[in-house]
Amino acid sequence: MKSDKNPETIQTMFNMISEKYDFINNVISFGTQKCIKKRCIKLLDIKPNSNVVDLCCGTGDLAYLIKRQQPKASVMGIDFSENMIEIAKDKVKGVNFFLGDATALPFPDNTFDFVTMGFGLRNIQNAEKAIEEVYRILKPNGEFLHLDFGEKNIISFLFDKFVPVTSGLFSNNSYAYRYLINSKKMFLSPNELIKDFESKGFKLKQRKDFIFKIISCQIMKKYS
Ligand SMILES: C[S@@+](CC[C@H](N)C(=O)[O-])C[C@H]1O[C@@H](n2cnc3c(N)ncnc32)[C@H](O)[C@@H]1O
Repeated sequence: MKSDKNPETIQTMFNMISEKYDFINNVISFGTQKCIKKRCIKLLDIKPNSNVVDLCCGTGDLAYLIKRQQPKASVMGIDFSENMIEIAKDKVKGVNFFLGDATALPFPDNTFDFVTMGFGLRNIQNAEKAIEEVYRILKPNGEFLHLDFGEKNIISFLFDKFVPVTSGLFSNNSYAYRYLINSKKMFLSPNELIKDFESKGFKLKQRKDFIFKIISCQIMKKYS
């Protein structure tokens, strides 16, 4: 998976858009992103004693849904944008949020029952390393839920045209939303992603697509 994303540029960009991030996400997804995230987390059988980490957690949406689904689980959120993490801390209670880099995680091998990542991998320069880190920190039989844009079809093409217009109305950071569209265009298709995950040792457990397949969730399992 090739990309030319400079981590410092990405970090600065998310720090800058953090305040409006949730609002614009709702606008450009017509409010569907929350419902999709909820349906994805429901696919996981999180137990009261499960240990879960949400990587690239942003403002904490997935971590919130995990905690709500299983209040007794231990849930952590990691992101390298200080401002996104601060919003997550204000918004979500009962979850430990930490600043951290998804390509160099401060956890021993085989620590987590579930690792989740929503709309994060696409932004990571060394995505291969991040996938290896996910595999390393998962326990055997642990599951990795990955959620991001999916197939490039006519609906996805219309979305690409719509985003710059709407985000321009509500945000003064047009760079961030141009970046969103470019990174989406360059991102692997769900089938290519699954192959990439499998090359690191994962096996596909389930794939679920949303909104004419333009959003896709893959649940990958670590067996060894
Ligand atoms: C598009 S947001 C997604 C936020 C959230 N997961 C969601 O679904 O709304 C991407 C997030 O990934 C974070 N990020 C990008 N690269 C990262 C890295 N190498 N380590 C940790 N976080 C990273 C950004 O700071 C940003 O908060």
